[in-house]
Amino acid sequence: MKRSLLLILFLITHCVYANGTDSLIEKKQVLVAGGAGFLGSHLCKRLLKSGCEVYCLDNLSTGFMRNIKPLLEDPHFHFILQDVCLPVCLDVPFDEIYNLASPASPPHYQSDPVKTFKTNVLGAMNLLELARRTDAKIFQASTSEVYGDPIEHPQKENYWGNVNPIGIRACYDEGKRGAETLYFDYHRQYKTRIKVARIFNTYGPQMEPEDGRVVSNFIMQALEGKPITIYGDGTQTRSFCYVDDMVEAVLRFVATTDAVTGPMNIGNPGEYTVQEIADKVVEFTGTKSEIVYRGLPLDDPKKRRPDISFAKQVLGWQPAIGLDQGLRLTIEFFKTLVPSDDPVAASKSP
Ligand SMILES: NC(=O)c1ccc[n+]([C@@H]2O[C@H](COP(=O)([O-])OP(=O)(O)OC[C@H]3O[C@@H](n4cnc5c(N)ncnc54)[C@H](O)[C@@H]3O)[C@@H](O)[C@H]2O)c1
Repeated sequence: MKRSLLLILFLITHCVYANGTDSLIEKKQVLVAGGAGFLGSHLCKRLLKSGCEVYCLDNLSTGFMRNIKPLLEDPHFHFILQDVCLPVCLDVPFDEIYNLASPASPPHYQSDPVKTFKTNVLGAMNLLELARRTDAKIFQASTSEVYGDPIEHPQKENYWGNVNPIGIRACYDEGKRGAETLYFDYHRQYKTRIKVARIFNTYGPQMEPEDGRVVSNFIMQALEGKPITIYGDGTQTRSFCYVDDMVEAVLRFVATTDAVTGPMNIGNPGEYTVQEIADKVVEFTGTKSEIVYRGLPLDDPKKRRPDISFAKQVLGWQPAIGLDQGLRLTIEFFKTLVPSDDPVAASKSP
């Protein structure tokens, strides 16, 4: 009797395995907080492609269901509508947690600065607690903004930054700095396995067209035949990384040994003035839009360029897509969002 019971048990487990319904046992369980946003949706797509069971948690404050719509058809993709400021009580044995939940563009994060700070600090704490409970590796999307308006150029990871702690950008900059503190304290105190990346400006398809970032602003204005607005005189510099390069680096970073905690700069070190970027957008879209100049926002950094030697050495990675190619790919995506790809016609439409 005992033997036949054992045999039945064996057959059941064996059949489940052989049927290919073993996916939940075999697949890596990953949580992407902020997965309905620009970067998060690209990351979810790559993780699904590499065979993971993907849980996307988002409160849809700056992200969109349209970003993850194609992923919802995949049975290995799960969407959870939740705010990271609340404890995350999912009963899933996560292997990896990616924290991307935070507004990223200045107009968004400055529209509710208290919420931005809470999202970055409480959100980090709630996800770190989840990582501790499930013994998951946890990735933090920190930012080049932790360097503030940098005095050292380009910025290496050991530079402590130059942030105005009471300025209008501080809710984001200091929120991310506070989150980094928490990550390293959880690591020291609880041995939590952390991966902290300082992400520099990233762009590409799926960016929110109206969120006030340089690339999306310029492209939308060009495609709609509106004046292209440069804040300041255009001599301030920025470095832009194409989203596919960014996602590749993030995945390689998370795959490193536990000893590699970061912080690690990830970005494209190609440095361009904002004027150069506007000129390229004008050229690649063929727009007739004129470039206009407005006052520089408060605490706007004058220079921004990552030193990525650490990422190159540890990940064997460097960006593969240059600004010209990346801009052209991004322009193609934005063309799908405007009624006409003819800037002259578009400028006449109501
Ligand atoms: N894109 C960049 O250039 C860049 C640069 C540096 C750092 N980062 C960081 O990368 C992450 C993703 O940036 P992005 O460009 O994709 O921005 P995004 O605004 O497109 O995505 C952020 C996502 O987080 C979600 N979110 C915000 N607050 C939340 C909360 N309280 N609870 C749950 N979900 C919440 C939003 O709804 C959105 O889907 C952010 O943490 C950002 O700070 C991005």
